[in-house]
Amino acid sequence: MILKLHLFAVAFWLGVVGVEYILERSRARNRHQGFAVADYHYQIDLGLEAPAFMVALVTGLLLIDPSRLDGLYLVKVLAGGLAVLSNLVCLWPVIQRKRAADSNDLPAVIHYSSLIDQISMLAIPAGLLALGLGMFGQL
Ligand code: HEM
Repeated sequence: MILKLHLFAVAFWLGVVGVEYILERSRARNRHQGFAVADYHYQIDLGLEAPAFMVALVTGLLLIDPSRLDGLYLVKVLAGGLAVLSNLVCLWPVIQRKRAADSNDLPAVIHYSSLIDQISMLAIPAGLLALGLGMFGQL
């Protein structure tokens, strides 16, 4: 049951991340689009993504068997944990960027967008590694 919930949360989360990726790609089209993306990403993060990765984290922690924390199993848990942690950290620039967009501050919107990109370059590979090891690895 816990594993089912874990997989449900992970699948939901990855779908949301895919939507965010598509949205972010459109943000440089013009100023209005950049500000709109800041607002959509903020709402998606707080309303959908954060609840999903919290469920993935709690169920993942409950699934841990301390006697097996070795090899690929350990790498899987660490990669999943890193993906959750970096998404948690990413909430900060997402919130700051929304505030900057609300104050019509374009340089700050661009600055926080670049921070979001940098964190994603850690979070996305970590999430994919956890997925690959979880699905295909001999844990
Ligand atoms: C992006 C994040 C994550 C992804 C993509 C992911 C993916 C998966 C998948 C596909 C499985 C199924 C393995 C099986 O068939 O047994 C799994 C199981 C598991 N996950 Fe995650 N997970 C993530 C986050 C986490 C986190 C944050 C933790 C713990 C802190 C965690 C711990 C576990 C554990 C302990 C199992 C059970 C492994 C077993 O008993 O063989 N996962 N995960």
